Amino acid sequence: MIREQGIMYGSASTGAMIREAAELIRESRLMVVSTGAGMSRESGIRTFRGEEGFWRQYRAEDLASLEGIRKDPGLVWEWYRERLRACCQLQPHAGYRALVRIQETVGRLPLITQNVDGLHQKAGIRDVIELHGSLRTASCLAGCGASPVPMTEDIFSEIPPRCSCGSVLRPDVVLFGENLPEQSLKRAFRLAESCDLMIVIGTSMVVYPAAALPVIALREGARVIEINTEETPLSRLEGTLSLRGTAGLVLPQIAKAVCEE
Ligand code: OAD
Ligand code: ZN
Repeated sequence: MIREQGIMYGSASTGAMIREAAELIRESRLMVVSTGAGMSRESGIRTFRGEEGFWRQYRAEDLASLEGIRKDPGLVWEWYRERLRACCQLQPHAGYRALVRIQETVGRLPLITQNVDGLHQKAGIRDVIELHGSLRTASCLAGCGASPVPMTEDIFSEIPPRCSCGSVLRPDVVLFGENLPEQSLKRAFRLAESCDLMIVIGTSMVVYPAAALPVIALREGARVIEINTEETPLSRLEGTLSLRGTAGLVLPQIAKAVCEE
């Protein structure tokens, strides 16, 4: 294992792998980015799995499922209020800004994310496909047809917040037991099939269908660059260049190498 500038790699030298990644980016015709909770970690948002993950402390079924919100909407909303407050205060870290620089260089950079925090948009990525919804709005749990309401502090005057029809509201994130937004999912699969490079950042590769995207891309002949602090099921697949390190450290180095040459 080589350690250099806070980045650990299983093989090859740091500089060589960064240069290889930059070259793949410069040569690519259609490049797509796919991000998970590890992308937001250095902006101050905890991940779901791992030692300090949310799902170590809470049960996903209690907090992030349709059943959970029906059973105890107050508890679920307390959690989402905290998450929203945290997300509003946070700023995109250097890795987010590096992706924006890469976007400016390559021109088109569709970005698929499992995150609901809106940090990519805040940083300036133009084309974000939110696979698991977002914290921007909430809708009627009973599905009365009222328009989604912006998820701001105002709605928390009552917990759980309610729709104009009297039913409880639900955040417009994908809850366990629900389908993913159809249009976003279709676009994500189409991009996975047609891209020639996918950069996969900070996802444990255990939640489907997001985890299938890089596998589809590889099957269709694309290359994959993975940036993660740990090894995942993607790391050793043929066609993957796996960089072991944090998004906030590795992405700026790649962006620098892309822009310099
Ligand atoms: P996980 O919490 O499962 O995985 C986070 C990944 O990020 C792990 O592989 C870590 O090794 C890696 N990681 C941690 N810090 C990092 C850093 N600074 N830089 C790079 N990588 C880092 O999160 P997801 O894969 O996004 O779903 O989880 C997927 C879904 O599971 C979430 O969208 C959520 C959750 O249940 C729903 O709520 C529907
Ligand atoms: Zn309603």
